[in-house]
Amino acid sequence: MPQLNENYLNIKQSYLFSEVARKTAAYQEANPDKPVIRLGIGDVTKPLASKVIDALHEGVDMLAHAETFKGYGPEQGYADTRASIADYYKRNGVDVDPDAIFISDGAKSDTGNITDIFGHDNTILIPDPVYPVYVDTNIMCGNYNIVYIDGNAENGFLPMPNFEQHADIIYLCSPNNPTGAAYNKEQLEIWVDYALKNDAVILFDSAYEAFISDPELPRSIYAIEGAKKCAIEFCSLSKTAGFTGTRCGYTVVPKELVFTASNGTEMSLNAMWNRRQSTKFNGTSYIVQHGAKVVFTEEGIAACSENIEYYKKNAKYIADTMTKLGINFYGGINSPYIWFECPNGMEAWECFDYLLENIQVVGTPGAGFGENGKNYFRLTAFGTYENTVEAMARFEKLFS
Ligand code: MLT
Repeated sequence: MPQLNENYLNIKQSYLFSEVARKTAAYQEANPDKPVIRLGIGDVTKPLASKVIDALHEGVDMLAHAETFKGYGPEQGYADTRASIADYYKRNGVDVDPDAIFISDGAKSDTGNITDIFGHDNTILIPDPVYPVYVDTNIMCGNYNIVYIDGNAENGFLPMPNFEQHADIIYLCSPNNPTGAAYNKEQLEIWVDYALKNDAVILFDSAYEAFISDPELPRSIYAIEGAKKCAIEFCSLSKTAGFTGTRCGYTVVPKELVFTASNGTEMSLNAMWNRRQSTKFNGTSYIVQHGAKVVFTEEGIAACSENIEYYKKNAKYIADTMTKLGINFYGGINSPYIWFECPNGMEAWECFDYLLENIQVVGTPGAGFGENGKNYFRLTAFGTYENTVEAMARFEKLFS
């Protein structure tokens, strides 16, 4: 009999969004005549921009001819796609070495896989509430030394470091999933200062950077001086370009990230991640990378922004409804998520059932993101405008 990875005994039996989908499907099966509006998982509804579709078609056509056919690609990603991403960073005022960029199938996989290059005795700082992948993937590989830092109404769900508390690894997500709150430059400077003082690594998830419209808010941790010495950044085309089903993301591991191993050897995180990827990953498909390359051109970003504006209009519609109903909420401005306090003192899963049964609107219970989410609820702006308006009309009926 194999010895099993019994760390799995210490995580919830099903992943948060699978649980939401399971409950929704059960309700829908029992109530086929009641139309359910899904504003739970942050999955996009708009088709890909036509420029991106053209590039994907072109990628397919290239595979049809011997002269342009591609087999295995570089595990780090094609050079022209990495250069296109570096150029996008540059237009946003940040210099990133294309050799530090690794193309993947999404930020979710990479934020989980990154545990491969760290040991198991680190003190890991994780905000609560947080995207559940960070905690689950650490538990799965036996990393139990997790210190939660509280995000709450008092700090606007933007927890700051306690300089008395040591950390080796720090997870940050801004704009935040689930709360929609975004760190400003001064706050991120404090985090970078803290990481440098602790010789720690920040794992910075910027999957929602494209939703930032306030020019004062950093879209990358590398907008902060010193961050290349202490931060890995994860980003995704899921929300930037609607690639939730197409799958593409990238991780930036600066060459400046060098630490000393217990035997005194200098180890580069860039080299380690490269080793990890070339061993366990065969690269994102050529077709997808060809589309991704176009996403990050000026025209590609402009085309994708039309969809982002559409979702931001939904976010504003939800936020305005919450304001009208006197429901306390966060996010919805530089983010596609609205994080609100469950009305009438309900707990998060109770609120989930209440909304599903009474108005057939599905959201994500805050409790799934951590203890501090137990009285909160998340709605996504990634639905269609029509569904968003209808969901909010149902909210108004229920809560006014
Ligand atoms: C979410 O709803 O939190 C995200 O869509 C999940 C993800 O990106 O994996």
